[in-house]
Amino acid sequence: FDKTKFQTQLINWFTQDQRILPWRENQDPYRVWISEIMLQQTRVDTVIPYFNNFLTKFPTPEALAEADEQEVLKAWEGLGYYSRARNLQNAVREVVEKYEGIVPNDPDLLGELKGVGPYTKGAILSIAYDQPEPAVDGNVMRVLSRVLKVEDDIAKQSTRKLFEGLIYHLISKQDPSSFNQGLMELGALICTPKSPSCLLCPVQNQCRAFAEGIETELPVKSSK
Ligand code: ADE
Repeated sequence: FDKTKFQTQLINWFTQDQRILPWRENQDPYRVWISEIMLQQTRVDTVIPYFNNFLTKFPTPEALAEADEQEVLKAWEGLGYYSRARNLQNAVREVVEKYEGIVPNDPDLLGELKGVGPYTKGAILSIAYDQPEPAVDGNVMRVLSRVLKVEDDIAKQSTRKLFEGLIYHLISKQDPSSFNQGLMELGALICTPKSPSCLLCPVQNQCRAFAEGIETELPVKSSK
């Protein structure tokens, strides 16, 4: 396994083949934050119009902080999991009050905010602030479990930590944003759960699961 080659293959593919999505227009941490919260339990196609509408109504942290909760919940209507919206507004209010509306780039401060778990924290730090931090979701675990033949149960908390450790070693220090988004995008477009498009995969020649013909056996996920 050649780490440098893997980084180059993944980043070049992402640069060429990524979907054009509204939250990729710039690296504004507020936009990245909102997109990642919306995308946690909801599909990309569904999120797009909600994201655009939300940013029109609440273009800045200040605008969201000042809004009535009812107004925010109305903009969220149809996305479900309304605690996401309440937590987001509470956290944004804290950012406005404590940090002058600047989303913290410090991992500890960011992690203290309501609703900002390890995934969202890593996504904001890497995508908006170019910090080499892991952002491990289901897509990322699927891709890396196959490339590296990791057979640990992804339903276990400890397995996410294992992947975070692997990514600290693997991530490009030059372009952590494209590296992490490349893993997410590969999971969404190529390295899909049921019938992955291995013949189109930019890292096929590095993938242990493909070499052994076991890509659909991974990741391992218990029902518990
Ligand atoms: N799923 C989670 N984060 C995403 C992102 N930034 N772009 C597309 N899909 C995602």
